[in-house]
Formats: sequence, C-alpha cells, structure tokens
Amino acid sequence: MLNWIERRTGFVSITKDFLTEDVPGGASYWYVFGSATLFAMIVQIVTGIFLTFFYAPSAMTAWESTKYIYAHPFQHTVLSIHYWGASAMIALVFLHLLQVVIWGAYKSPREIQWIVGVLLLLVTMVLGLTGYLLPWDMDAYFASQVAINLTLNVPFIGGWIQQFVQDGTTMGTLTINRFFGLHVWLMPAALVALVAAHLTIFRWNGPAGPPVEDPRPLRKGRFWPDQLFMDTVASLLVLIGILALASFWPPFLDAKADPTVQFTPYPAWYFLDLFGLLNLVPGNLEIVGAIIIPGFATTLLLLLPWIDRSTTRVLGSRKFILWLLGISLAIIWWLTIWSQLSIMGKQAATPAPAPPPAAAKVPASTTAAVSPAAKAGQAVYSQNCSSCHGAAGAGMPPNFPPLAGNPFVTGDPNQVILTVLNGKTGAISVNGQTYNGQMPAWKSPLSNSDIANVVTYIRSALGPNHAGAVTTADVAKLKK
Ligand code: HEC
Repeated sequence: MLNWIERRTGFVSITKDFLTEDVPGGASYWYVFGSATLFAMIVQIVTGIFLTFFYAPSAMTAWESTKYIYAHPFQHTVLSIHYWGASAMIALVFLHLLQVVIWGAYKSPREIQWIVGVLLLLVTMVLGLTGYLLPWDMDAYFASQVAINLTLNVPFIGGWIQQFVQDGTTMGTLTINRFFGLHVWLMPAALVALVAAHLTIFRWNGPAGPPVEDPRPLRKGRFWPDQLFMDTVASLLVLIGILALASFWPPFLDAKADPTVQFTPYPAWYFLDLFGLLNLVPGNLEIVGAIIIPGFATTLLLLLPWIDRSTTRVLGSRKFILWLLGISLAIIWWLTIWSQLSIMGKQAATPAPAPPPAAAKVPASTTAAVSPAAKAGQAVYSQNCSSCHGAAGAGMPPNFPPLAGNPFVTGDPNQVILTVLNGKTGAISVNGQTYNGQMPAWKSPLSNSDIANVVTYIRSALGPNHAGAVTTADVAKLKK
C-alpha cells in the first residue's frame, strides 16, 4: 500500500526526509517557539473559517451577526478561542523573534529567513488590527477610527490609503468590507505564502542551533521522534492555555457602534505601546509617533543582520546588540504600562452616557426659536457630520475639531461655507488645542440647500453658537 502511494506521489520519501532532519545539539525545548507559532496560526485559520459561516460584513449586520455568535454557546466558544488565539499567536511570534535575536540566529546565511520572519510579524499585527473592527461595537469602531486616521500621516499616499480602507466620508459598510477582505483573504494568503517561504528557507539552511563556539561538532539529534514530541507538547500547552483563557475570560460584545457617543477607545494589548507613543507626541507632530518612530524601528529590525555583522553568535561577544534589545524592551514595556494607565484614567474621567450637551445648554425658549433651516440642517448634520464632530459638536482630539463654541464656525460665514464645500486638511488650532485630520469636501455629496442648512445649523443652533444664518444663494455663489 505505502509502496503503491510512494511510486505515484513520492510522499513517503518526502515524509521520511522531513522527519529525519538533523537537529544540532539534539532535540530541545528551546526549539519549540517556531512550531508553537505555526500551531497557533492553524488554530486561527480553523476557527476563523468557522466564524465566516456566521459573520455578515455590513454596517447593518456586522454587530447583529456577532451578537448571534455570542448568543450561541458553541459559536461563542469558537469566537473566544479565535480571540485568545490571536493574542497567543502574537505573543509567540514575539517570543520566537526574541530568541532568534538573543541567539543571533539571524546571521549569515539566514538573512532572508529573518526578513521573511519580520514580515510575518507585521502581517500578524495587521491581522490583529483588521480583526478588531469586525464586531462593530463601540470599541471596535473608535479604536479602528484612530488607526484609519493615522494612515493619513503616511507621506504622499496617506490620503489614498485612508480612502482605500475607509472608502467614503465616514466609516460604514464599505469600511467593514475592506477590513473583512483584508482580514480573511489578503492577509491570510500573505501569511501562508510567507510561512511557506520561511519554512522552505529553514529546511535549506537547517536549524541554527545554540549560540556556542565549540570546536567539537555538536551532537546531532533527529527531528523524529524527539523534537516532534517536544513540539507537540509545546503546541498542546498553547492549546490548553488558549482554551483556559477562552473559557474563563471570554471576550464581551459592547453596544453597537454609535459614532455620536463619546467613547474612549481601547486598543489590543499589542498596540498599547504604539498608542502610548501617539499620546506622548504633541498633536502637530503626530507623524513622528505614527510613522517616523515605528518606521525607524521596523527598518532597524529588518537590517539587524547587517547591523550586527560579526560572525560570532556567542552572547558575550555581542554586548551591543543585547543592550540594544534590553533598552528597546524596556521602552516597549514602559510605553505599554503608561498607555494602559492613561487609558484607564481617561475612561474613568469620561462621564457615563452623558446627555447631549447641546440639549442641556440651549434653553427651551431658544430651541423653540430655531429656524426651519436650522432644523433641516440638524438632520443633515446628524447624517453626515456627527460621526466625526460629535452629536453635540464637541469634536474629538487629536483629529476632529469641535464645532460648538468654535470661533471659526461663528465667524466669517463665507469661510465656513468654503470649508464645508471644499474640505480642509492640515493642522488647525481651536481654543488653544491643535487638531489635524482630513475634513472631506461636501460639494458633490450634498446639495447647495443641504449645505446652506447645515452651515446655518452649526452657526446658529449647535451648542452655544448663535451666529447668523446663510442662504442657498450664498453657497451657490461660492461653489465653483
Ligand atoms: C470624516 C470626518 C469628518 C466629517 C464627516 C466631517 N468633518 Fe468637518 N472636519 C473634519 C476634520 C478632521 C476637520 C479639521 C481639518 C483640519 O485639520 O484642517 C474638520 C473641520 C471642519 C470645520 C472647520 C473647523 C475649524 O475650526 O477650522 C468645519 C466648519 C467643519 N469641519 C464642518 C463640518 C460639517 C458641516 C460637516 C458635515 C457636512 C463635517 N464637518 C463633516 C472631519 C470631518
């Protein structure tokens, strides 16, 4: 039987070759990180495929179908495994990378294997980021909004990337579809292709072995059965860990995304450091925290085999690299903890479901006096503007300026109309606070009368604003 298969496929000799690979220094539990990461990836693919049977990507159904999954114990368990599996996979990629750095296993001839490994880390993080949006609950919405707006900082093509992932003036069904496509097709395909390359190169070079310099050749071990046994034990431990976390701390689904409510988003733990970095840099230097520092760190990581060029892998002779690693880890830890504490502080300070300040501030008599144009403008506002500027015009640093109590809005009406017609980018300052984001142009999605009404509304009836109305003719005059 085996012979019959072997003659037609070569599978038996391929398997034999695979199993009899040499393991320098003998099998060891030090070698399990790569295979444990691979195992976590398989868990993610299997549970992820299962979840697509139930999940429906659109603004009307994403949260609802996730709620359905939560309501059914088996589906909920699979979702919890997928949720914790993501954390496990990222943690294992980090551990694997850490060991490779400490052991100097990136050195010649393994430079390309190392680069593919760093790309795998990036793809894994993009998978985490794109998956975060899919439940479409409050946290998913607001955390992803931060991420989407950060893409605007990418030089030259930032606007294009932002439109590619968001597609439209606000986040909605198209955004969910973009993230879904990235999360279930493009990124997994890239992941599998890169893993295949990583493993093929690994078989070509063979394992690096421990970082010792010993003239005697290392005792040779075999992959089968010792190393395979240890890899299996490690994968089992990973599985037990994921199952335990999934049963004791299942994730929970927040209220459905509501762009009009104030919400302090919370990123996944592996993005806390970046989140902290962004909070540290002043608003007008966002590009430093969003692009320059992370880009520099990634470049450094990619070029590591050429930065640490000595041929020795012995730890004692590589003090510089180990110090660099230690300092980087200390900074990452510090940023993570600092960011966690500052988010907790902000969440404590955000008043729980506050009544819209506009309603509270505008006395009943003025509300009654609101013109029909402003009433119509309010409808336009809640449809098109409130997702960024807030239902009450309170805005949201560091991107979205407030419109209530903003002197620009109550100032020269022509300037306000021009801004709404043509959009606006670049840093602006409102009441001493800097904002920098992209305000879409409204001249084609909205009619002249809609624009006149919404400008009238934000100038005359939003929060404390009491400036004069504008007319459709004013808008027509300025529209080119
Ligand atoms: C996608 C998010 C988004 C939407 C939707 C949006 N805006 Fe904006 N808006 C912004 C951003 C970001 C800025 C600041 C631009 C900058 O940094 O230069 C801004 C700026 C403004 C300003 C100028 C404020 C100032 O102080 O200079 C006005 C006025 C304004 N928006 C009105 C509106 C109106 C009216 C609507 C609805 C028709 C709207 N916005 C919809 C994001 C948005």
